[in-house]
Amino acid sequence: MKIQMGVDPSLVYRPDIKSKEMKEKVEYRNYTSGPLLERVFNTYSLMHTHQTMDFVRQKNAIWESCTFKKMTIMEALDWLDDLVDESDPDVDFPNSYHAYQTAEGIRKEHPDKGWFQLVGLLHDMGKILALAGEPQWCVVGDTFPVGCRHQDSIVFQDSTFHNNLDTTHPIYSTEFGIYEPHCGLENVYMSWGHDEYMYKVMKFNNFTLPEEAFYMIRFHSFYPWHTGGDYMHLCNSKDLHMLPWVKEFNKFDLYTKSEDLPDVDSLRPYYQSLIDQYCPGILSW
Ligand SMILES: [Fe+2]
Ligand SMILES: [Fe+2]
Repeated sequence: MKIQMGVDPSLVYRPDIKSKEMKEKVEYRNYTSGPLLERVFNTYSLMHTHQTMDFVRQKNAIWESCTFKKMTIMEALDWLDDLVDESDPDVDFPNSYHAYQTAEGIRKEHPDKGWFQLVGLLHDMGKILALAGEPQWCVVGDTFPVGCRHQDSIVFQDSTFHNNLDTTHPIYSTEFGIYEPHCGLENVYMSWGHDEYMYKVMKFNNFTLPEEAFYMIRFHSFYPWHTGGDYMHLCNSKDLHMLPWVKEFNKFDLYTKSEDLPDVDSLRPYYQSLIDQYCPGILSW
């Protein structure tokens, strides 16, 4: 069964990025038309209404025990092929190609870093949440911290949070909320989505990847931070040390999408060898 996945809002609406590269990307993908922007806005409206501290705690509790399914990385990757983004006007191919394209982009610039290439392959695998029946507003899109004030660089910040219960909460609506200054992002509750889920799967199954890999996957959709520059008051020195890695990864996530599809069959053995090294066998999801 094919599941229709709306376009990933985190890759569509980037009002804060004004680089030439991004403009070209936006033009290429022709995301300026009304209906698509409306769809993206609606996804963020739902996300920003329902992703509260309570909701995030609930989702964490449901998924962190990884009792949903048993499968290998390759099985999960194949399963992602049932996720087709049918609303994307330019890229009409299964989701797993994006995984290979990102990984191959990294491989070209970082031929010596197998672990980093594997991050490219793994980073969106948490989107199997959509195949498990989760609505897309808690699978895709930009992420943001809950439990403290929603900062300005969150997309549609001024028009989508008015029905979010946390905005009137006496603690959650304050600058620091439940957090200590510079507590570190690893101690912050992020809105629920494919980043946090995949991070939990990696932890649960004891992936032997370096710290940077866990970090890049966990925060790759945290645009209000890595691109918007907000939430620095929650960051510790580790976060600042990891930020260049997150930005480096983001380059490949955004700019390797093309209709020039990789020959997956010929790439498989190479990536299988990386999987065997860092996350072998049947995993708990
Ligand atoms: Fe992603
Ligand atoms: Fe991605």
